[in-house]
Amino acid sequence: MIKIDTTKASSFVDAALITRREKELVNLHSLLVNKTGKGNDFLGWVDLPASLDPAIVGRIKADAERIGKKSQLLVVIGIGGSYLGSRAVIDALAQPFSSLLKEKKFPFVVYAGENLSEDYHSGLLDLLDQYDYSVAVISKSGTTTEPAVAFRLIKSHMEKKYGKKEAADRIIAVTDAQRGALKNLAGKEGYSTYVIPDDVGGRYSVLTPVGLLPIAVAGFDIEKLLQGARDMRETCLASTDPEKNPAIKYAAIRNALYQNGKSVEIMVNYQPNLFYLAEWWKQLYGESEGKENKGIFPAGVGFTTDLHSMGQYIQEGVRMLFETTISVKNPGRELKVPFLQGDPDGLNFLEGRRLDEINHMAELGTLLAHVDGGVPNIRIEIEKLDEYTLGQLIYFFEFACALSGYLLGVNPFDQPGVEAYKKNMFALIGKPGFEEEGKRLREKLN
Ligand code: PA5
Repeated sequence: MIKIDTTKASSFVDAALITRREKELVNLHSLLVNKTGKGNDFLGWVDLPASLDPAIVGRIKADAERIGKKSQLLVVIGIGGSYLGSRAVIDALAQPFSSLLKEKKFPFVVYAGENLSEDYHSGLLDLLDQYDYSVAVISKSGTTTEPAVAFRLIKSHMEKKYGKKEAADRIIAVTDAQRGALKNLAGKEGYSTYVIPDDVGGRYSVLTPVGLLPIAVAGFDIEKLLQGARDMRETCLASTDPEKNPAIKYAAIRNALYQNGKSVEIMVNYQPNLFYLAEWWKQLYGESEGKENKGIFPAGVGFTTDLHSMGQYIQEGVRMLFETTISVKNPGRELKVPFLQGDPDGLNFLEGRRLDEINHMAELGTLLAHVDGGVPNIRIEIEKLDEYTLGQLIYFFEFACALSGYLLGVNPFDQPGVEAYKKNMFALIGKPGFEEEGKRLREKLN
């Protein structure tokens, strides 16, 4: 079970405020569980780990095996919630240099359509010339520009390389049940398809085929991931006591800190393979909370790397920050500092000690220094990095995020602000129907 320690954060706020927030959360918890709060038509994720049809899991595993037999690479095409969850889990579990290892048991996963860079996608096409690959194209709406453009590029590369029939056999589409261009195209071309349930939004969709398919192709155990999420769901639903429900504890303290002027939350990790977990978390919290001129700004750092860059600001910059540290108790591997004759670097006092021990001391030393510098710390400790624990973490963060949004009084399941850039981009690239807007914007740019 994950452990959450708020003692180094609670001293920064009035205890009565935390208690008030915890009391409000009892009511908000029931809105969430009974599906009577804001955005209640997007609460499918609450029951997902329990309600997911085992036949879908079986199909995903079979497809993963099929892809694994004929592909060295899987290209995941998607943006935002349609790729961040799978990338978070795959990166957290993979050998950090797996792309360069000579012997590979599973396809290596690469990503497309999460940016519009010409250099990035040209480079990817160069790679696809050299390897056998399959594609998972993922878009709930089926109309998002970035993945749609990337899919065009890759589909045409694939059809040239393999021919239309074999290409169709190598493409899997994950999309809405009814609507969208991708759904229509998949039907027309005969791609294998998976459905993203109507009541699950992009950033809450990692435990649907959106996340599960790429994770399974990369060789990880999706049943254990789901089991972790299922167990955390039970914990989150069973009680509103903050000592029994970590999501209540986390939502209450972060909101109390926000009320006290701590408007930036930094997710801290000490394992580079958690970089994308922080990216996923940033999207989940940023898109869910940042609206109506409210919300904590989610940021991420990787220590000890960023102690040599952002560490200075965190220690002594504007005091608007708090940190949430993900602490991994037991790493998967063991590495000890060797003895060096003559002790030329003065490090023989570390001989025989694990690198992880030094990492943990860096973590504790940093935590105390930052708290002393006025940066509250919430510490989330996990036993180890495996599928089960990641499943727990995912559900915990989703549940706490929904509660946090409700505490702020916003709808945590919509993202109206994302439309503004899209409208301007469509106008500037000349999408039919946006001509007037295009003229107006070009005048502004001159
Ligand atoms: O959380 C969300 O809903 C968004 O971030 C979406 O995941 C993102 O915009 C991609 O949308 P789609 O899957 O429709 O292409």
